[in-house]
Amino acid sequence: MFATARLSTDSKPALYAELLAQARALFEGERDPGANAANLAALLYHGLPDLNWAGFYWMKEGGLVLGSFQGLPACVRIAVGKGVCGTAARDKRTIVVTDVDAFPGHIACDSASRSEVVIPLVHAGKVIGVMDLDSPRLARFDEEDARGLEAVAQAFLDSTNFGG
Ligand code: SME
Repeated sequence: MFATARLSTDSKPALYAELLAQARALFEGERDPGANAANLAALLYHGLPDLNWAGFYWMKEGGLVLGSFQGLPACVRIAVGKGVCGTAARDKRTIVVTDVDAFPGHIACDSASRSEVVIPLVHAGKVIGVMDLDSPRLARFDEEDARGLEAVAQAFLDSTNFGG
C-alpha cells in the first residue's frame, strides 16, 4: 500500500523532497498523532540510509517519554536538559551531533550509535516532543539533513490534531 522502500537518490535535496512527499502521502486523511508518528518512524528508518534508530519522545508531565520508534529498545524517560533529546527540547532547537562521544551527557541507548540528530516538535509555541535519529556512522548528519528533517517534522505536526 505504501512505498517505504529506500529512497532512490544520493542527492540530499532530492532525497528530502522525496521523503517529504512520502510522509505527506502517509499522513493523508489521518490526524491521529500516534498513528502518524508510528508510520513516520518506519518511513525514516527504512527510507534513509545508515540509521540504527529513528523515533519519538513525547513531553509528558515535564519530561520526555519514549514513543513510537524503529530500532533497538531505548531508554524510556529522559529529563529535559539531559542528553541530546533533553537538550533539544529545553533549547527548542535542532541539534546535530557529529560524534556522540564528544557530546557531554549523551545518553547511549544503543552502543552502535556514533552520530545523532534531534528535532524539537513545537506546537502552539511549546515543545510537545522530539524526533530523534541515530546512525552507526560518524558525522552521518549535517545541516542539510537537519533542514530536510525539520520540514518532515513540520509536515507531521501539520497533519495531526494536537488539541488544535
Ligand atoms: N541518545 C539520546 C537518547 C535517545 S536514544 O538515542 C534513542 C540522547 O542523548 O538524548
